[in-house]
Parts: sequence; C-alpha cells; structure tokens
Amino acid sequence: MSSPRTVIVFGPTGKVGSVAALTAHEEGAKVILAMRDPSKSIPILDGLCIERVQADLTKPETISTAVRQTGAKHAFIYIAHGGNDGMRGSITALKNAGIESVVFLSSFTIKHDIRAVPPTELVPYIHAQVEISLDDIFAENGVAVRPGYFASNSLQMKSDCLAGEVKLPNPDALFDWIAPGDIGRVCGSILAHGTEERVVPVVGPHKLSYHEVVAEIGRVIGKELRITKVSGEEAVQVMSDKLHVPRHFAEWFVTNITGDSSDISNSPDYAKAVENIWKYNKEPVTFEQWLSENKALFLA
Ligand SMILES: NC(=O)c1ccc[n+]([C@@H]2O[C@H](COP(=O)([O-])OP(=O)(O)OC[C@H]3O[C@@H](n4cnc5c(N)ncnc54)[C@H](OP(=O)(O)O)[C@@H]3O)[C@@H](O)[C@H]2O)c1
Repeated sequence: MSSPRTVIVFGPTGKVGSVAALTAHEEGAKVILAMRDPSKSIPILDGLCIERVQADLTKPETISTAVRQTGAKHAFIYIAHGGNDGMRGSITALKNAGIESVVFLSSFTIKHDIRAVPPTELVPYIHAQVEISLDDIFAENGVAVRPGYFASNSLQMKSDCLAGEVKLPNPDALFDWIAPGDIGRVCGSILAHGTEERVVPVVGPHKLSYHEVVAEIGRVIGKELRITKVSGEEAVQVMSDKLHVPRHFAEWFVTNITGDSSDISNSPDYAKAVENIWKYNKEPVTFEQWLSENKALFLA
C-alpha cells in the first residue's frame, strides 16, 4: 500500500475547495489549507486539526513558501483572476517548490482543443489558458476537472424569488445544476489518490430547465413564483446592475450560456461527464437535495 499523500488546497474557503479538502482528509491524505487569510472560518473544516498556511494564488513567492514549508506534493487550485498569463507564474512556482501533481478546477464550457479557444469565448478562454500552463509545466501530472453548471448559480435568482417574479432570458435552457460539494468530492478524491485522466468533465446527475428549477425553489421556500421571459439585453442589464457582473462577461453569458438553444447535453463531452459523476462520486446530489440542504441561503 502506498503511503498517504501530503496535499495542499488553495482556496479551502470555497464551495468546491472546502469539500475537496475534507474529502482528501477523509480519504487519508495529510491536508494543508493554503489561504489568503488563514484566520477565516471554514465551517466544515474548523473542528478538524488541519494545518493552515498563508498564500495567495496571484503571488508566486507566497506559493513557494507555503509548499516548501509544508512539504506538500499535490495541490488543488482555483483560477485566480487578475493576471493575464494563464497563471503561468503561479503554476511554475508550484512545480519549482516540489509539487508533483495539480488538480485544477476548470470549466465544462471548454468544448474544443484548449489551444484553439479564441479570446472572445471569455469563460472557456480564461480556463483554457490555465490548462495550457498546466499542460506545459506539469504534462500528464496536471489534471483539469471541468464541472458543468453549478446548483449554486440558482442563488443569482434569489432577489427575484423573494419578490415573487423571476425574470429570465430563456426559461427553457437545460442545465445539470451540479452540486458544488459533488465537484469537491471528485477533486478531493483525485487529490488523495491521483487519476490516469488529464481532463475530467463532470456534470450533475439530471438535466433540469430553469422552469423546473424555479418551480422547485418556489415549493421549497413556500412561495408562488411567476416567470417572466425578458430580452437578452434586459438580462444583461440585470446581471451587470444587480449582480455586479462585468458587462462584457454578462453579454457573453447571456448569449452563450442561456441562449435560445441552450442545452448542456449538446456538449461533445456530456456522456463522459455523466459517467464521471458516478465514477468519481458514488452518490451525486440532485438539485432537489442541494436545494433542501441550502434552503436557508434563499431566505437569509
Ligand atoms: N458557477 C459555475 O457554474 C461554474 C461552472 C464551471 C466552473 N466554475 C469554476 O468554479 C469557480 C467557483 O468555484 P466555487 O463556487 O467553489 O468558488 P467560491 O466558493 O467563490 O470560492 C473561491 C475560492 O477561491 C479562493 N481564492 C480566490 N482568489 C484567490 C487567490 N488570489 N488566492 C488564493 N485563493 C483565492 C477564495 O478564497 P478567499 O476566502 O480568500 O476569498 C475561495 O476559497 C469559478 O471561478 C470557475 O472557475 C464555475
């Protein structure tokens, strides 16, 4: 039997990162939490005796120190916004400090060769740039986990839900609504044991339209919810004004993600991604289960 891995999780306060850290811990790895602010509370990890170190994924020198100080050999990372080098400096720092393999939380929006994604494809492009850095620096020891559409994205409708009317550009758009915890379990398991695969697409176990999701939210919060179909322009306005999403991103999102023919299963990797959620995470959480566990977030 091989000895337990020493793993470092950058971003353990996150919805995915926290569960990745917990899973790796439960599966026998020695876990280190690398945080911008190590004093932050992480409810699911606070009671466990897990070492914390300070590090910022945009500051390579803090990454080197954290890895060298702890002797970690395997890392989980998020995309860190700010630089435009595909996190090349940070990923190089991981390698030079002794990290042997990396699990990167990427995105299912990447549908083609990572080196052929144009910059106009905002979300797939920024994730593909990090995957390219990982490929160049870690080769087969860089793993990209590419999740579908998070169940937690439904919280963007919270204020509309509380007001009783949900405005959407395409209520028929079909998504997988994957639970962030399920993604964390996939990442944590790969972190603790490794995988032969370089790219691991994962989606939630069932597709649901926004219509179905809003009906379920209404049932759980005990409120009658009406859906009003709005124009793409109005949806962009709401995303940028109310949700403070940068306008160019909101435009890309409304056109490409919630566009007229949006159905996540049109993606070439969909069948593989469904297979993976069962392969890496034996009992995936349905949207209904995620919602009942997170009902309070809609009412807070
Ligand atoms: N939403 C979707 O449908 C979707 C789909 C596919 C992929 N994704 C990917 O999933 C990500 C969101 O995952 P999530 O919901 O788990 O995120 P989250 O809950 O917002 O957590 C983000 C984590 O990243 C950490 N972080 C941010 N900047 C950092 C930095 N410079 N250095 C170190 N840590 C840093 C945060 O730490 P602090 O506590 O310091 O803030 C936090 O722990 C997206 O950014 C995207 O890449 C999302």
